[in-house]
Amino acid sequence: MTTGLGVAGLGGLGEALIKDAVATEGLRVVAVQDVVPGRARAVAEQYAVDWSGERFDALLGAPRVDAIVICTPNALHAAQAQAALDAGKHALVQKPLALTCGDAQATLDAARRGNRLLFVDYSYRFLDTIAVLRQHLPHTNAIRGVRATFHNIYGPGVEKRWFYEPALSGGGALTDLGVHLLDLAVWMLAPREVRLESVSFAGDGPVETDGRLLVAADGIPIQVDVSWNSPLPATQISFEVRTSEHTLRWENVDGSFFHFRTTVDGRVVAERETTLREDTLRAFKRALASGTAPSVDTRVYALLDQAYGRDAQSGTS
Ligand SMILES: NC(=O)c1ccc[n+]([C@@H]2O[C@H](COP(=O)([O-])OP(=O)(O)OC[C@H]3O[C@@H](n4cnc5c(N)ncnc54)[C@H](O)[C@@H]3O)[C@@H](O)[C@H]2O)c1
Repeated sequence: MTTGLGVAGLGGLGEALIKDAVATEGLRVVAVQDVVPGRARAVAEQYAVDWSGERFDALLGAPRVDAIVICTPNALHAAQAQAALDAGKHALVQKPLALTCGDAQATLDAARRGNRLLFVDYSYRFLDTIAVLRQHLPHTNAIRGVRATFHNIYGPGVEKRWFYEPALSGGGALTDLGVHLLDLAVWMLAPREVRLESVSFAGDGPVETDGRLLVAADGIPIQVDVSWNSPLPATQISFEVRTSEHTLRWENVDGSFFHFRTTVDGRVVAERETTLREDTLRAFKRALASGTAPSVDTRVYALLDQAYGRDAQSGTS
């Protein structure tokens, strides 16, 4: 069976997903939508997509759409995913799922109510190299600590102004990059209790360009460091777990955004290049086939609410 995808938001990520989706058996991009006049039509022509439009509500009613793929600015994700789910569609939504824990929960509730899949694109979760790291994890009482970093030598370009507007982005590097690392940590450790210990931000604009978070997960210290426009020679992405006996590490290779490896005490045990989108789409197909989406832990959003000093219930949806 082929699942018809309607893609909302045709910027960098939207187009990257479409490019891989049109080559994925079992998925078909049947509709595309963007608020910028003409953009959807141009993308539809390029990828031979039947329907294009400028209004999100029209996308929900486009022919043969089974799932809505949401690649719009962060602040729109929760409300658009809820609208899609309420319209009887599955939702594949970019991270962050929501700008508050309350909105993340409301979106999960909409999926349960509508009996549809809510699949959040925490891209790294779906990589083989991360699966290998996870296989090597000992019982949590042998885990001594986690250090996770995402230092991106680039930042969102000037054409993506919304990343710098808190009302649209929800925050800077921590929201953009840190959400991946917090998700990995909470998913892998599955702690009973997770607590924010400290937070520090830097940057002279309206959103932080650097952030450090210290979190305790059942007493296990987790340090998360993120930055945009990092002065390092190359982008660093890593997730390192110190156990009582070993150091397990997942990292990018040579500054790449698409080449990763996993090491145990420095020995490479897995290495692979990926478009990332291919892994997301494969995982999405598995979710459709099994009827179960990968778990979404709203505590990730509670940590972000606390880090930014937000009222968790103040809805954006
Ligand atoms: N999973 C990942 O690793 C990953 C990687 C990159 C980006 N992302 C996420 O993807 C999202 C988009 O990022 P991007 O870099 O492509 O941004 P972008 O600015 O390049 O694209 C956003 C697009 O959404 C469109 N848009 C705005 N309002 C809209 C609406 N109401 N309906 C439809 N379209 C609308 C804009 O015109 C633009 O074309 C962000 O939430 C980002 O966090 C995720």
